[in-house]
Amino acid sequence: MDIRSINRDEFRDYAAVWERTFNFDGKDDELEFEADVHELDRSIVAVENGSFVGTGGSFSFDMTVPGGSVAAAGLTAVAVLPTHRRRGVLTSMMRYHFDDVRNREEPVAVLRASESVIYSRFGYGVATFDSSWKIGRRDAALVPEPEGGGAISLIDVEEARVVLPQIYAGAAPSTPGFLSRNEDVWKHSLLDLESWRGKFTANRFAVYEEDGTALGYLRYRVKDTWEESLPKNEVLAAELIALEPAAEAALWRFIFSTDLVDVIRTQNRPTHELLDILLADPRRLERRRVDGLWARLVDVPAALAARRYRTPGRLVIEVVDQFLPDSGGRFLLEGSPDGAECRRTTDEPDLVVDADALGACYLGGSSFAMFHAVGRVVGSEQAVRLVDTMFSWHVEPWCPHYF
Ligand SMILES: CC(C)(COP(=O)(O)OP(=O)(O)OC[C@H]1O[C@@H](n2cnc3c(N)ncnc32)[C@H](O)[C@@H]1OP(=O)(O)O)[C@@H](O)C(=O)NCCC(=O)NCCS
Repeated sequence: MDIRSINRDEFRDYAAVWERTFNFDGKDDELEFEADVHELDRSIVAVENGSFVGTGGSFSFDMTVPGGSVAAAGLTAVAVLPTHRRRGVLTSMMRYHFDDVRNREEPVAVLRASESVIYSRFGYGVATFDSSWKIGRRDAALVPEPEGGGAISLIDVEEARVVLPQIYAGAAPSTPGFLSRNEDVWKHSLLDLESWRGKFTANRFAVYEEDGTALGYLRYRVKDTWEESLPKNEVLAAELIALEPAAEAALWRFIFSTDLVDVIRTQNRPTHELLDILLADPRRLERRRVDGLWARLVDVPAALAARRYRTPGRLVIEVVDQFLPDSGGRFLLEGSPDGAECRRTTDEPDLVVDADALGACYLGGSSFAMFHAVGRVVGSEQAVRLVDTMFSWHVEPWCPHYF
């Protein structure tokens, strides 16, 4: 099977594999927009007898890590025709992908999974979680908090194209797991095609400003529903990003006090958020947590040296990497809040860690102790305590971006 990238003329045939795999019919204009945002030199197709039977691709991101950022390849568009499943097509495409990641010297690979069972075999672990929640508006009373002194305004999509990227870029450095969005990605994020809306309105944009500075935004949609003369409108709060707690609180307060709204839902929020302490009756919030961003260290020393550590420490970590054995081995990590160094070593390890467990713990969102408890991290209690103290961070990792 030939694995290669595609050119723009081949995009229709490439997308036809996703249509058959993900069960939708793409319209030509939508596919044009998709082709614009895809990095075609990073696209992947598996070709059999001249036909495309599998697809993939990646985005070139910078990902925030504790105290810094790292180049990360975001795997996307993974699909194998139902006629060609379980013959190793995905496995071959993953090898091609990791070769590309290495050639580009990206230390980390990330993805969002359609099915959470597939990717740990390739060395990915769940590095962030997505929490979705819903709450009835009448149950969403908030306790008073100090006034921020700013105001909310509603802006149109033209203004949103300017304001949202600025706020997002301002928020990105403080939360591990944020992925950079370039101009093409923003265009795509705000495209808002009618076929993507379901029964909801177009995107609405609320912005919180203080002294002329925009400090937070909420992108949302509303489903207009009435039952027996009563409003049952539902708000889908698609993305709320804030630079200041006052902005975040004000945007929730705004949407929770919007007339005619019955229910407010979100798709992807951090698992712990300000709202938890703002709600007068937090139990009313119904929350579901799923895997979010999956991370995989391709170049372990570069990835571990790219982040900062909560406390100073020195550890030899042996990484067991079944899929990319030469990415594994023993590494001496010396890290602190001010910087880190990591290099290969032959010293005896303090900890032996599976590649996917290291991916899961990389941003501080999962603990080595949990993996230790089930035998997927081996080492003394003392080494596990040290690694968890070092890798933990004061901000929970979260990835608001879908790709
Ligand atoms: C998921 C998908 C890409 C797998 O492709 P594939 O070519 O069949 O995968 P491979 O043959 O290379 O399988 C690799 C391994 O993963 C396992 N695997 C693959 N898909 C799996 C699934 N959905 N559930 C459980 N195991 C799965 C295989 O059994 C195989 O295991 P093994 O190495 O122990 O034998 C393909 O089934 C597909 O396109 N599904 C629908 C779209 C989708 O889910 N895409 C993922 C987007 S994130």
